[in-house]
Amino acid sequence: MGLAVLAVALLGGGAAACTTSGSDASPPTTGDRSTTTSSARPSTTTTEAPTTTTFPGQAPADVAPADPKVADVADPVFDGLGDPRIDVSHYAVEVTADPSKPGISGTVAITLQPRTAKALKSFTLDLKGPEVSEATIGKQAAKVSVDGDQITVTPAKALRPGKEVTLELRYAGTPEPGEFPALGVPVGWQADSLGGWFTMSEPSGTSTWVPVNDHPSDKATWTITLDTPKAVTGIANGRLTSSKVVGDRRQWVWTTDHPMASYLVLAAMGDYDLVQREGPGDVQVVFAFPKGVPEASRKGFDELDAILAFYSDTFGAYPDDDAGAIVVATSLGLALETQTRPLFGLDAVGDGKTWALAHEVAHQWFGDAVSPERWSDLWLNEGFATYADWLYRAHLGEDIDVLASADAGREPSGLAVTDPQAAATFDGSVYEGGARALHALRRTIGDDAFFEVLRTWFAEHDGGNATTAEFEALAEQVSGKDLKAFFTAWLDAPKQPQMPG
Ligand code: TRP
Ligand code: ZN
Repeated sequence: MGLAVLAVALLGGGAAACTTSGSDASPPTTGDRSTTTSSARPSTTTTEAPTTTTFPGQAPADVAPADPKVADVADPVFDGLGDPRIDVSHYAVEVTADPSKPGISGTVAITLQPRTAKALKSFTLDLKGPEVSEATIGKQAAKVSVDGDQITVTPAKALRPGKEVTLELRYAGTPEPGEFPALGVPVGWQADSLGGWFTMSEPSGTSTWVPVNDHPSDKATWTITLDTPKAVTGIANGRLTSSKVVGDRRQWVWTTDHPMASYLVLAAMGDYDLVQREGPGDVQVVFAFPKGVPEASRKGFDELDAILAFYSDTFGAYPDDDAGAIVVATSLGLALETQTRPLFGLDAVGDGKTWALAHEVAHQWFGDAVSPERWSDLWLNEGFATYADWLYRAHLGEDIDVLASADAGREPSGLAVTDPQAAATFDGSVYEGGARALHALRRTIGDDAFFEVLRTWFAEHDGGNATTAEFEALAEQVSGKDLKAFFTAWLDAPKQPQMPG
């Protein structure tokens, strides 16, 4: 795409992009390091929340107050996650771990405020495995009790609505990743095949390594510090703002200042090369490749720039300042759209194998920037990313009507696109069925209105959450058509109609 691509393989322990002063020792590197980032952002290792930026989609103020008696987000798909009574704005987590050693220890500072109308006496966080040993709000100890996969936090003084506090927790233990039933993949903190660690957390795995309000309706910014042995590389979302050596350890600090749903949080440590370069616009691109993956096999990821450029033209400018990908040293069979840095397995590396790249990059707009309010809105992620992938392939010359034809994708399961069961199992009807519904909408309202709907959808909800009902209302408003019967037929009925011509 005519972009200056300056690939810098930072070998020998990782990148030193904008390191803090102090006891830092930059890792030995080979090659031209002249493009090493000088981040516009300040390096930070503190636990303070960044200055608040307002994102159009984030408007807790206009949402009705939460019921003080309801401790879990009411979600028709995955129940028992998150606590609707709190709104977290920032997590500053610091996790210490070593490859091949199962235990982790950490601290997290969670900046939050109640969403209840009256003072909030206690609230819950999700946590599976590690145990909390210390909890404070301000200088005062808070009480923590364990209840299954949740902890209940009772502050010394009830929290006042509208007043932000920072809860600090110290914890340690062994993460307990669960198996995601439909996909047969472990969800949460897990080992790669070389003894490193990585997280793959959709829908509820982040709570295996950090106490978290684990529901996509509560997005927050994150500072993730990974404390690793000095020779090990730590990778997370966003920008590497510091990588300081302290004794025989290195602290990798990654900062995400665009709100992120908790299932999109990435943490990995192991033997990686960080390959950093300038992307389109001011975007900083960082790829993390396991050292054993040869240069030639990494080539497929060069297509990232073309994909970013195409989607930026089609949907609106890329929603973040950071981009890239991580390949973890294990075969996964699927990929995950971890924010800014989607995650792939070794099976996605090599000639003609970057099949999932266009899909995961599309999620940066649909799913990551615009996140579902409830898991039952999953087609807003998967249907949209599948359709974006078709658009990209059509841009490269394929026939989108063939891609959208019923027998091209997976066998239809007979579940409606918006059926909670389909969302719970990440069913083909959510992916291809959702994408087909979008194609049918395009055929019904015409290209101009359709692409205006997509662009407005992204612009209005970037940084926030959205629902299927809001999408339907927007499509009606932009097209000026009554689409009730259309959406009922395409999204809510088990068998979709014929594609309009
Ligand atoms: N969201 C992923 C995609 O389609 C797929 C996925 C669903 C997943 N659940 C997962 C991946 C759990 C890893 C772990 O892009
Ligand atoms: Zn997807």
